[in-house]
Amino acid sequence: MKTIAIVTGASSGIGKEFVKLFLKEREIDEIWAIARDQKKLQNLRKKAGHKVITYSLDLSCASSIAEFENVLKEKTPNIKYLVNSAGYAKFCTYKDLSIQETVNMIDLNCSAVVSMSLASIPYMGKGSHIINLASQAAFQPLPYQNVYSSTKAFVRNYSRALNVELKGTGICVTAVCPGWVRTALYDRAMIGAKKATNKFVGMVLPDKVAAKALHDAKRNKDISVYGIHTKILHLAAKILPQRMAMKIWLKQQNL
Ligand SMILES: NC(=O)c1ccc[n+]([C@@H]2O[C@H](COP(=O)([O-])OP(=O)(O)OC[C@H]3O[C@@H](n4cnc5c(N)ncnc54)[C@H](OP(=O)(O)O)[C@@H]3O)[C@@H](O)[C@H]2O)c1
Repeated sequence: MKTIAIVTGASSGIGKEFVKLFLKEREIDEIWAIARDQKKLQNLRKKAGHKVITYSLDLSCASSIAEFENVLKEKTPNIKYLVNSAGYAKFCTYKDLSIQETVNMIDLNCSAVVSMSLASIPYMGKGSHIINLASQAAFQPLPYQNVYSSTKAFVRNYSRALNVELKGTGICVTAVCPGWVRTALYDRAMIGAKKATNKFVGMVLPDKVAAKALHDAKRNKDISVYGIHTKILHLAAKILPQRMAMKIWLKQQNL
């Protein structure tokens, strides 16, 4: 039975950094890298080598999840890590998002995280980890990112609650809550936005976020926050009333 790490959103940004980290883990026989763009996945395999097995799947579609479940049934791996990093953001007013795009964001950022977790748990055991990418956007409601921040609040709450339910199985769930991270996410997030988030204070690099997240997961922490800036925001969100936190956010973003 092969011991594997599964990474969604593996072709770019934070997910790609997780693939690099897992390449260094001796006990991992294979890394299953999932994203849509086949070319990017092929390039990843070329660079990373034969340990990386690629799956081109659109995780916002239920049929892709069913396809993934069939692969698991056929190969019956021992899943040591599942990293749910596939996700996307749109920073704009509610008016600039179609219903279809809004629902698609929820499908990928929330439903796919849940489906991938539920599909993987039967193949996990003591010492296995689910690492879900939430965000600092999960700390409070964010006007002009209303859907994105809500999806990330979902991921954070879901991960922490599931972690409690899994106590006794030896499977740990970690919600990763990074601040602004320098990745391709912004290429898509900013398209077509007339009024949008535009100040990205304290931006950090994806390799640092992934390394801290893996370190925290190995220590069975249910939440991972990298960087002093995000840690301060995390603390502030625990103290301030949400209405006040939103006012500060709007002022800081000049919105
Ligand atoms: N960057 C930030 O500032 C930041 C901050 C906090 C949290 N996060 C979260 O961290 C995670 C990773 O973001 P990132 O910054 O690394 O973004 P990224 O560089 O844009 O990477 C996103 C990855 O998700 C894949 N993906 C997108 N749509 C998909 C779909 N429908 N099905 C399967 N895969 C899909 C993309 O590949 P394809 O396009 O080829 O499918 C890509 O590999 C996201 O959940 C994001 O919300 C990011």
